Amino acid sequence: MWPELALLILHLFVALCSSRIIEHIEDLPTRTFDFVVVGGGTAGNVIASRLTENPGISVLVLEAGGSNEGVLLSMVPGFCGRTVQSAIDWNFTAQVGQDNRTIEVPRGFILGGSSSINCMAYTRGSSEDWDRYADVTGDPGWSWDNVQPFIRKNEHFTPPVDKHNTTGQFDPAVHSFDGVNSVTLPGFTHHYDELVIQSSKLPGAELPFNLDTNSGNQLGIGWGQSTVLNGQRSSSATSYLGPTVAKRSNLHVLLHAHVTRILKASRSQSSFTKVELTQNAGETFEIVSATKEIIISAGAIGTPNLLLNSGIGDSESLLEIGIPSTLHLPSVGQNLTEQPAVTLAWNISSPQTNSTDAEQLEQWMKTPRSGPLVDAPLNTVGFFRLPANASIFTRFRDPSAGPHTAHLEIVFTNDGFGLPGNVVSSAPAIVSPASRGFVKLNSSNLLDHPMIDLNLLSSEFDLFAMREGLRMIVRFMASPPFEGFLLSSNLNIDDETTDDDLDAVIRSRVGGAAHLVGTASMSPKDADWGVVDPDLKLKGAQGVRIADASVLPFVPAAHTQASVYIVAERASHLIKNTWDL
Ligand SMILES: Cc1cc2nc3c(=O)[nH]c(=O)nc-3n(C[C@H](O)[C@H](O)[C@H](O)COP(=O)(O)OP(=O)(O)OC[C@H]3O[C@@H](n4cnc5c(N)ncnc54)[C@H](O)[C@@H]3O)c2cc1C
Ligand SMILES: *[C@@H]1O[C@H](CO)[C@@H](O)[C@H](O)[C@H]1NC(C)=O
Ligand SMILES: *[C@@H]1O[C@H](CO)[C@@H](O)[C@H](O)[C@H]1NC(C)=O
Ligand SMILES: *[C@@H]1O[C@H](CO)[C@@H](O)[C@H](O)[C@H]1NC(C)=O
Ligand SMILES: *[C@@H]1O[C@H](CO)[C@@H](O)[C@H](O)[C@H]1NC(C)=O
Ligand SMILES: *[C@@H]1O[C@H](CO)[C@@H](O)[C@H](O)[C@H]1NC(C)=O
Ligand SMILES: *[C@@H]1O[C@H](CO)[C@@H](O)[C@H](O)[C@H]1NC(C)=O
Ligand SMILES: *[C@@H]1O[C@H](CO)[C@@H](O)[C@H](O)[C@H]1NC(C)=O
Ligand SMILES: *[C@@H]1O[C@H](CO)[C@@H](O)[C@H](O)[C@H]1NC(C)=O
Repeated sequence: MWPELALLILHLFVALCSSRIIEHIEDLPTRTFDFVVVGGGTAGNVIASRLTENPGISVLVLEAGGSNEGVLLSMVPGFCGRTVQSAIDWNFTAQVGQDNRTIEVPRGFILGGSSSINCMAYTRGSSEDWDRYADVTGDPGWSWDNVQPFIRKNEHFTPPVDKHNTTGQFDPAVHSFDGVNSVTLPGFTHHYDELVIQSSKLPGAELPFNLDTNSGNQLGIGWGQSTVLNGQRSSSATSYLGPTVAKRSNLHVLLHAHVTRILKASRSQSSFTKVELTQNAGETFEIVSATKEIIISAGAIGTPNLLLNSGIGDSESLLEIGIPSTLHLPSVGQNLTEQPAVTLAWNISSPQTNSTDAEQLEQWMKTPRSGPLVDAPLNTVGFFRLPANASIFTRFRDPSAGPHTAHLEIVFTNDGFGLPGNVVSSAPAIVSPASRGFVKLNSSNLLDHPMIDLNLLSSEFDLFAMREGLRMIVRFMASPPFEGFLLSSNLNIDDETTDDDLDAVIRSRVGGAAHLVGTASMSPKDADWGVVDPDLKLKGAQGVRIADASVLPFVPAAHTQASVYIVAERASHLIKNTWDL
């Protein structure tokens, strides 16, 4: 009963609030705006919010999904594991790689995009990750030092909901207390979290404690920081489109608006000014226009899919499926980068909470919110490198951004993400992978899902790093604090397991971390590859910028939302500069 009742109450509340967030195109006052933003996701809402700070500028956001208001699945941090394959997920599937296994690729289908369905971990990557973006694009504006103002505009560090003393759990000097999106420490500490931190503080620990893995110096184990406010998810929709922003008369957000193509002003011109969309699964199409720019923020899958449908991509492969080329850009959809992950889980000797699901939701509903649902199940994280003398480096160039950047992340969770019973997990992910996949169209039907091949583990480096990651975890979990707490594990491996046996386990179990990037990459202005210039303008065209995860040329050694927020804040700054706003 509880969830249903709560939903009803929330819907009633929402109906009373006025806003410019609408569901029918007929309710728009005009079809022409200064800027049209495609995708009201993580990045799109930042841009809409920043541009409409100027009351003289009109912005329309087009979002395929529905409202985030009152959607409990999105609001409750502890429900993040349940958002995959739900009504707020696009439900994409992908080839894993060499075998014919397919897996789910979740992407948010809701206002706020993936920031409304993700597990909220807030990780910025290493300073070297950002310095590499500056190097690869030739634009020093993307360096760690130079993106600090954008980190600060985005982040609003808040106390954890249980108001515990956070001294020694993070470094306030590297955080912002006056940005828009809330970042906080766990509000319900589990026994497992304490054991992880204790083990990292043992003298000589192989995986040592790091006070703050978001300082630019990411290596080590630290307390997890997440985009949560007072025990509730803080997404781009709840923060950047908060009540005062959503009431701005120069901002309009159209929900259930599936954008199918961007169109040129006329066939002979290189400027794109029109956006085609449907609100009824392709029965009818509508057109809106941008007098200044179209900003594409449809995400690492949605953006290349939209570009390809618009004839922007490799002209030959587009013609093969019957789509006329409008702009030859062979890099569209290529260099898809995802972080492979394997879940290693253990049964534990006694449950970390004794409350039932219903009791936990009841605790969460009260003010102040409390109980295990105030956090996603990721309260501690760690970032590690392979040893410098690892044999793989005699054959492979290090794919990480530098000597202080992780190859591996271990996500410690208080939950087996679907595994039954009282379990905790320690999942290694290769956060600086060498493998690359692709996104391409499956047909000329504008509403079909694209074909996605993650091509995980196609590089021997990634397989090697995953083996070593599993071995590191086995060693870490054998340290004294865990004794008596951890029982049987889902993977039958120990420090004696051979490479071949580990490979078999990895290949049959590997999944993705949902951190896709690279499919509309930035590159230097005159490069013969890439999709956008370092100022995010679409190469070879006018009137279009791309701002979302797809423009990152490499995946940061981290979860990706913080990086997307940084890209979006800088994109807003670049756009404002161009138009003198
Ligand atoms: C299940 C899951 C868990 C994750 N966990 C974490 C985590 O814990 N920490 C972290 O940092 N990162 C995490 N990530 C990754 C992170 O959320 C994403 O990298 C980031 O949110 C991507 O932002 P974006 O703006 O590029 O795309 P999105 O936020 O996905 O936004 C794209 C938006 O465009 C809309 N759209 C797409 N196509 C169209 C179209 N044709 N017409 C109209 N609208 C369209 C979508 O509906 C969506 O709203 C997770 C992701 C998922 C899916
Ligand atoms: C995704 O799949 C789930 C489960 O099959 C379904 O309930 C949901 O409606 C789907 N999402 C969308 C956006 O179609
Ligand atoms: C994958 O499927 C293809 C075509 O269905 C088949 O030819 C191939 O043998 C399969 N590969 C594996 C590893 O199962
Ligand atoms: C928090 O803990 C630190 C160190 O343990 C202590 O110095 C400080 O006084 C505490 N702060 C509060 C508000 O209790
Ligand atoms: C993929 O990215 C690399 C840089 O990491 C670049 O050299 C290469 O040209 C890209 N490939 C395509 C097809 O864009
Ligand atoms: C759960 O209940 C058991 C048995 O009463 C008790 O030993 C244990 O400490 C409880 N656990 C928590 C986290 O409260
Ligand atoms: C790497 O160095 C460590 C410590 O110096 C040593 O124990 C280990 O055997 C070396 N590994 C390889 C592959 O050389
Ligand atoms: C691609 O199209 C084929 C044939 O219509 C279909 O069987 C397949 O499921 C499609 N793939 C995706 C990812 O939608
Ligand atoms: C936990 O124990 C149950 C019952 O013995 C078993 O079925 C399950 O596979 C175990 N889970 C893990 C993660 O070891």
